[in-house]
Amino acid sequence: MMFKGSKGPPAVASNLTTSLLKARIDGTATPFLEHRHRGWELGLPAYIERSAELAKPPIIIAVGGGKGGVGKSLVSANLAVRMAGNGVRVLAIDLDIGGANLHTYFGISAPAHNLADAIVYGRRSVPEVIIPSGVHGVSLIAGGGEEAWGGSNGIHEGTLRKLFQAIFSLKQMGLADLVILDLGAGTHRHTLDFFAAAHLGLMTVLPEPTSIENAYLFFKTSLFRLIENVGDNLGLPDIAGIARRHLLSTDGGGRGRGGYTDRLRSVAQEHPAFIQQVGLAMASRTVGIAINQVRGQKDIDVGKSMELIGERYFGFQTRYCGYLNYDEAAWKSLRNRRLLVVDFPHSVLSKRFTELARVMLSNLGY
Ligand SMILES: Nc1ncnc2c1ncn2[C@@H]1O[C@H](COP(=O)(O)OP(=O)(O)O)[C@@H](O)[C@H]1O
Ligand SMILES: [Mg+2]
Repeated sequence: MMFKGSKGPPAVASNLTTSLLKARIDGTATPFLEHRHRGWELGLPAYIERSAELAKPPIIIAVGGGKGGVGKSLVSANLAVRMAGNGVRVLAIDLDIGGANLHTYFGISAPAHNLADAIVYGRRSVPEVIIPSGVHGVSLIAGGGEEAWGGSNGIHEGTLRKLFQAIFSLKQMGLADLVILDLGAGTHRHTLDFFAAAHLGLMTVLPEPTSIENAYLFFKTSLFRLIENVGDNLGLPDIAGIARRHLLSTDGGGRGRGGYTDRLRSVAQEHPAFIQQVGLAMASRTVGIAINQVRGQKDIDVGKSMELIGERYFGFQTRYCGYLNYDEAAWKSLRNRRLLVVDFPHSVLSKRFTELARVMLSNLGY
């Protein structure tokens, strides 16, 4: 079984990504690498403040996928452990506003403080709400306090601005080199924005029709949000609107062999400069695929076709990063109130986490 991750992206792209990340870490970005950074910035929501912190953010990984119960939190917690080390400090942040339980996967039952204490209420500083995980180089910020975030009305933009500012500052404050955002289910605006902010957004998918369907919906809504963000950032919201309407036009949205990428190409005939910028924003972030609760080869292969569709149909730089076996160690470690990879280090699932982290880090240029 070959993964795109192990095979790697084309040599040129991979070298560029590698040097981009090294440069970002060392603070020696060259003009070309700044170009990549600009592409990433271009896809961020326009309400995010363009501050000094934004120029040197931590590496951001978002774990999403559109559906609940697919393993996003289990993956976030255990990836955090597997990605730490070699001087890389990892901070996992629970951004599942309605159903925060990341701390449980870390074996913590009642966190003393959470994200809302720092961002919404301002009664704690960001460093004060960071909880050590017990594993060297790994910490977390618990979620909770969902009533604080604005309920079903969605999160206020001012609150989101503060939250992003805090996340982007983590590197310069010396608090984290790499951040893992554990997202909630659904395609809420704020969830799409967290995903858009990631250098690598990992879609966690179960090999079953409902989960796959939700993942494609997430691809689609992410694409639409990205186009909207690029439009807002360039002061061209009307052209972004035209592009989005064109993507939705005729046969129900992107159906047909070429999908949304074909549609974007046809918008490019009228608005080449705008679509070029959308392309830059898309090329400056990676969508990863992880297939979870795998029980056989057929399940493993689902990731391959999703990678193809993500790339050809939606136009995202998509990488199949790995699969995770269905393993009873998952609930046993939960019951023991311990991290899976710490509680059952020799389980098949723990080994798969090692491999997933390796492929993801290599896609990020580590
Ligand atoms: N690979 C796996 N093998 C066995 N159980 C799993 C696996 N992945 C997730 N689970 C279980 O599925 C449930 C949902 O996982 P969770 O991470 O909370 O999902 P999400 O965060 O996407 O809502 C949990 O009980 C978890 O232990
Ligand atoms: Mg969760």
